[in-house]
Amino acid sequence: MRIVVLVSGTGSNLQAVIDAVAAGDLPNVEIAAVGADKHGTYGVQRSAEAGIETFVVNFKDFADRGDWNHALTEKCLSYAPDYVVSSGFMRIVGEEFINAFDGTYINTHPALLPSFPGAHGVRDALAYGVKVTGCTVHIADAGVDTGPILRQEAVAIEETDTEETLHERIKVVERRLLIATLADLAAN
Ligand code: GRF
Repeated sequence: MRIVVLVSGTGSNLQAVIDAVAAGDLPNVEIAAVGADKHGTYGVQRSAEAGIETFVVNFKDFADRGDWNHALTEKCLSYAPDYVVSSGFMRIVGEEFINAFDGTYINTHPALLPSFPGAHGVRDALAYGVKVTGCTVHIADAGVDTGPILRQEAVAIEETDTEETLHERIKVVERRLLIATLADLAAN
């Protein structure tokens, strides 16, 4: 199973996938490429260091969101992936991309969807005062953090939590769920 992983930042969840592949824990998964929507991400840097092909389709290079979306779609299609994984990819993709990867675009989100979608799922859960949040791995459709849920797990919020401490605990679970999801998909 070939995957393309999209990142916008640190790529620590991606690193967990890279490590799982290297350790032989995902025997049928090949990371065909890692792409970003901007230059200078650590996610792309660490992938290159791991010998994985990388690309950037820089959002700021495009006058029009549709043109960027088209370029991203074409670039991802060029790797003929079975799945595209958004792992901290913070840019909303358009219809052309969703249609090209209909049912094969996987997203991870640091909250229990459908609660707290959007870019600040951890902060919003804390601000609301919920006592339990978590993370979700799902097939992404055209909405913001919507689409069929594949795996989900709860994480308790502690009174002393800040956005950073909570997000770090969520990410530990998120990595495990993402790897388990990829193992499931590769087995089918
Ligand atoms: C993850 O929690 C992901 O769900 C969210 O951003 C985080 C990515 O972290 N959208 P990293 O770049 O893998 O460290």
